[in-house]
Amino acid sequence: MGDISHLLKSHIHEAKAYNPTAILRMLYDQRPDYARLMGNELPYGISPQARQAIIDELDRAHLYPDSSYHDLKQALSTYTGFPDTHIVVGNGSTQFIDGLYCGFINPGDAVLFVPPDYGPYRIRLTIYNGEAQLAPRSPPDYGWKIDHVLDAITSATKMIVIISPNNPVGNCIPEKEMRRLLDRDLLIVVDEAYYEFAETTLAHLVHKYPNLIVTRTMAKAFGFAGLRLGYALTNANLAEYLSKAMHHFPVNRITAKAAIAALGDASYLEYVKKEIKSGREYLVSALNALPDVQTYPSHTNFVLTKFLGPSANSYDIAQHLVEEGIIVRDYTGKAGLEGQFVRITVGTQEQNRACVKAIEHALSH
Ligand SMILES: Cc1ncc(COP(=O)(O)O)c(C=O)c1O
Repeated sequence: MGDISHLLKSHIHEAKAYNPTAILRMLYDQRPDYARLMGNELPYGISPQARQAIIDELDRAHLYPDSSYHDLKQALSTYTGFPDTHIVVGNGSTQFIDGLYCGFINPGDAVLFVPPDYGPYRIRLTIYNGEAQLAPRSPPDYGWKIDHVLDAITSATKMIVIISPNNPVGNCIPEKEMRRLLDRDLLIVVDEAYYEFAETTLAHLVHKYPNLIVTRTMAKAFGFAGLRLGYALTNANLAEYLSKAMHHFPVNRITAKAAIAALGDASYLEYVKKEIKSGREYLVSALNALPDVQTYPSHTNFVLTKFLGPSANSYDIAQHLVEEGIIVRDYTGKAGLEGQFVRITVGTQEQNRACVKAIEHALSH
């Protein structure tokens, strides 16, 4: 058989792969002693109860999961306060990107983004032949200027995606501004991946607005980045509709059991939230005390950090950190972040201190 390229879809063939930190992950595979502060993962691992649940479930790994995810939805219902009819589960919250586009976006429909934001939403849109519209937020504070967002809506716009708390900036959209978006005849998706660290949510608006879908993940505060568990909160009609657009067995049975255990382990979650908050506060105050370094107020488990010195170069600084065993996310070339930015995930207190020291060394080079 010869060339089969004519069988491929050209827009998929040309789509960008999402692997912004692939090189860093390879580096970490070789040096697991390095501090992995680039992916907003949890440095403490999963709850001990979740770990035990995984071990207990291994003997049933050959059985299909319950496709209704009854027990998992009950656990999420208790955790979120939403009825299980309002909950959809997914293989990480990024699976909802596909579920949402599959369910709502026809070729040529537009999705409006408010960058700087989380890249995969735009990358996946090209797979569905959708059109990305942008209403960028601007420096110095990257605040939410909703008039700009409303002005950017056209007749092609079908969906608006808001990341709140925002990745990479760390700020939340005010509820008042959110309501102005929700008044439009469009689907509004709010990605609350960092909800537990913000301790504020817009999910209650689901009860008032029929066009709102809130997605969340257990990858961050629960440490499930490798296990993969996300969920969406919306009204019962949209939940039923969206679940039809999702895969049939989105969550494997081991992850489902682990999630039920983790959601029931409130004291571990409290411990994690407290540690991350104090680590974040330390990073912000120690970094702000360094000359020509500015951090952005964050409601997440990361701190967006800008180097203001005339010759500062975030790429060189990140390279220097690697030499000291610390891996952060460098934003050289990231649209919307003009300047010298890195994003630092809050690590263990020891990693945070090492990171600040290494930045100090990098700046004095
Ligand atoms: C805003 C946002 N949404 C979703 C995700 C990924 O979530 P998951 O691992 O559940 O797919 C991330 C991870 O960095 C994120 O920052």
